[in-house]
Amino acid sequence: MEGIADFLDSLIGGISLIFYALTIGGLIWGLVVLRPWNKNTRYNPTLLKETIALIYRGAFALIGCQLLKIILKIWLINVTLEMPPFPAFAHTTQFQAGLLQAVFTIILAIYLTVYLKANPASKKHWLISASLAIPLIITGAWLVHGAGRFDDRAFLMSFTVLHQLGAAAWIGSIFQILNLWRLTQQEIINPELWPLLLRRFSKLGIGAVVLILASGLPMAFSYISDINGLVGTGYGNLLMVKIALLAVALGFAVLNNRAVGAYFSKGVKYSLNRCVPHYVTVEFIILITVLFTAASLASQPPAIDIPSLTASWEEVLNVFAPRIPRTTSPSHAALIAGEAGRIAIIGQTPSEAATAWSDYNHNIAGIFLAVMSFFAMLSYNKYCRFARFWPLGFIGLAIFLFFRADAESWPMGELGFWESMAGNSEVLQHRLSTLIAFALGAMELQARLTKNPDSSLPYIFPILSAIGGLILLTHSHVGFQAKTTFLIQISHILMGVFAIILACGRWLELKLEGSGKQFAGFISVFALFQIGLILMFYREPLY
Ligand code: HEM
Repeated sequence: MEGIADFLDSLIGGISLIFYALTIGGLIWGLVVLRPWNKNTRYNPTLLKETIALIYRGAFALIGCQLLKIILKIWLINVTLEMPPFPAFAHTTQFQAGLLQAVFTIILAIYLTVYLKANPASKKHWLISASLAIPLIITGAWLVHGAGRFDDRAFLMSFTVLHQLGAAAWIGSIFQILNLWRLTQQEIINPELWPLLLRRFSKLGIGAVVLILASGLPMAFSYISDINGLVGTGYGNLLMVKIALLAVALGFAVLNNRAVGAYFSKGVKYSLNRCVPHYVTVEFIILITVLFTAASLASQPPAIDIPSLTASWEEVLNVFAPRIPRTTSPSHAALIAGEAGRIAIIGQTPSEAATAWSDYNHNIAGIFLAVMSFFAMLSYNKYCRFARFWPLGFIGLAIFLFFRADAESWPMGELGFWESMAGNSEVLQHRLSTLIAFALGAMELQARLTKNPDSSLPYIFPILSAIGGLILLTHSHVGFQAKTTFLIQISHILMGVFAIILACGRWLELKLEGSGKQFAGFISVFALFQIGLILMFYREPLY
């Protein structure tokens, strides 16, 4: 139950941070970049209408998330502590600050819908909207880790809020930039606005990144005291993921800046119109992933608080150490014999056979992915065109998972098909991955062979990979998890990062032309190869 509640908490936390960015970031975009009251720039009413619509829709959705978070906590108290949450919960900071923040968001959402929507070019209404956002921003300080600390409380609370503000300014503007490109493509607005507002944004973007770093790094040093805290805890790992993804997002931001610079200095339109929209889309996917990672981070105990649960960097390195993959499974009888002890509520005993079978599943799946992505990398060589059938490997993997993933259930075991899924979430997960692997194989093969340039089939793979990556980065980091659980999770975190890189690479391969296309495609299958290697060498520590 705790695992599901933590997963839901991170999921709603991530979605809530997205709507926070849409609302607060949208207001900052309007005040700093758009400045609709400025007479020198004539704005099409549709652009102003759509800009403000994104902001107030974000605000209303944010209210929904804020209330859902409170309801989730009430449910969690109810099921885990088996006691009525009220009146005790009503006296907590989480409840009071959560409710107060929702009230401030309601006031802002109403003002945006009634006044700013009716007066989109009025400087007065933009400034009033921004000032109404301030109490909503400040109240957030009582909902972060810092509020629960004795030392450096004010510093940590205020720095987290500044950090959230920097993140909102960047991501809220990216939402507006994608909207701006959509209206430019539909020729609804003056095409000159695209480069003009991109150039104006670059200063805001730099400011947002400086704010993120200036607030994030001191916090990181407060919550993590040494290298083991960084590599040996869920908190530290998620922070490393954020830093790595920030570097990738900054890479695309630099490419965008260069393209805008080339347009204004030499009038070069190609990369501004044929590359930047897709770089911004990928920057968007990466930053959304950072937000979900940040939400997951916020539900983790800071590394400094869990020295006894921290793995050493040697233990972490050992998780990824190359080893002979397990290609034979334990016997059926051994697996069944260990089951009762493994799933017992009281006196739980680890089952070597079950752990070995899990290693077998992961390693074989890894071999399939590594071989497939090896051929996929080959397929970028013009003399190896035969290798483009590599997605057939997914179908092979699906057949393996169908027959071998769960030996105790149908078709190899006694447990019936439906009965096995109803009683065991692991079997359900395996059945789902079998289905996804099969569908992915069939679709991706067709996508890579299709001659129809307008087909949307090729986009399914990157979208599914991005979702898979998000789930791997947000799922089940049980707070004070045992070190062994963390040592299992850590490979899931890294596979999550590679799944996001796979998705972004494939997306750019589908959208770009020329050498960028090939390079992006190769990066994408190279990331798939890394996932294959992690699974091939996967070893579950015995409890
Ligand atoms: C060097 C890069 C970064 C560092 C060192 C850093 C550090 C941190 C730390 C330590 C926290 C946790 C605060 C806590 O435990 O309450 C945090 C939270 C957060 N970070 Fe970052 N961060 C970085 C980059 C980013 C980026 C690029 C974004 C988004 C664009 C981002 C968005 C957030 C958000 C939204 C939170 C608040 C999560 C919440 O409380 O729900 N961070 N960051």
